Amino acid sequence: MLRASLWQLVALAVAAAAVVHGSDAYYRGDNNHSSSLHGDFDAVWGQRNARFRDEGRVVELTLDEETGSRLQSKDRYLFGRFDLDIKLVPGDSAGTITSFYICTGGARHDEVDFEFLGNVSGEPYLLHTNVFSDGKGEREQQFVLWFDPTADFHTYSILWNPLNIILYIDGTPIRVFKNNEAYGVPFPARQPVHVFASIWNAEEWATQGGRVKTDWARAPFVAAYRRFSAGNACVWRGRRCRGSNLGSPSSSWMTQKLDWWSWMTLNWVRMNYMSYDYCADRRRYPHGFPTECVIPIGRV
Ligand SMILES: *[C@@H]1O[C@H](CO)[C@@H](O)[C@H](O)[C@H]1NC(C)=O
Ligand SMILES: *[C@@H]1O[C@H](CO)[C@@H](O)[C@H](O)[C@H]1NC(C)=O
Repeated sequence: MLRASLWQLVALAVAAAAVVHGSDAYYRGDNNHSSSLHGDFDAVWGQRNARFRDEGRVVELTLDEETGSRLQSKDRYLFGRFDLDIKLVPGDSAGTITSFYICTGGARHDEVDFEFLGNVSGEPYLLHTNVFSDGKGEREQQFVLWFDPTADFHTYSILWNPLNIILYIDGTPIRVFKNNEAYGVPFPARQPVHVFASIWNAEEWATQGGRVKTDWARAPFVAAYRRFSAGNACVWRGRRCRGSNLGSPSSSWMTQKLDWWSWMTLNWVRMNYMSYDYCADRRRYPHGFPTECVIPIGRV
């Protein structure tokens, strides 16, 4: 778990203000939610369990005993800010995983994950995040949430630019993975990604370490998605990005890093809601942590 430090105490002191400030700054401006998930995604697995509603503006992905379901973006992107609203499976969701991620595919794939691990009724979801670069992941960070993710839609965001990858929940930063290529840590920067949303059964490990299995009597398990936005993300068409007005204010995400307030907020999240950090798991790394955990620039 976390070591309290003066820095973190300061973070706590300003946390409330920071959350408000962070969300505000993040949302004002260039968000442009696409009106149709149907237009942006194809169901590539479990098609019959992907139900588009409200003229394609909402999609419900269902897990039943036969199959889950996965959507894949029609476009590929090289850098972007991706927002998606998700309302998770209510009630007993043990054994299920609902996800939103970007992934390149291929042997040396890059990937950034939001994975929501379900739980029995009344017990909290766990948010499992990971970053793969050049085929290597094992960079897990897990969080509990400060709200009920099944009661309403919340906005989950992946910001990916050449400087860093930042994960946000409702505009609050929860994780950053900096570009530390200068220190020999591969950073996703060369391969375009698809955006994915899915639901599947992972009862072997998802809930309470795999002790609780999926209760199929409770099926079908349904998660809802809406308001996908790839903003002015760089759409990949072969070698160049199409129509990317990357110099304009509407693509400010391209150079976005965490400012002071955002760092404070991130610290507040880490201190209060982080339940696992690979960079703090001494049992797993008895002979020293991975480079990005050690080099000062990679530390939070
Ligand atoms: C948002 O996207 C729609 C559909 O792509 C487009 O018609 C509209 O002009 C965009 N609005 C802004 C403010 O960029
Ligand atoms: C489920 O609930 C238990 C008990 O509160 C908790 O330890 C666990 O982290 C929760 N989440 C998952 C995915 O197991």
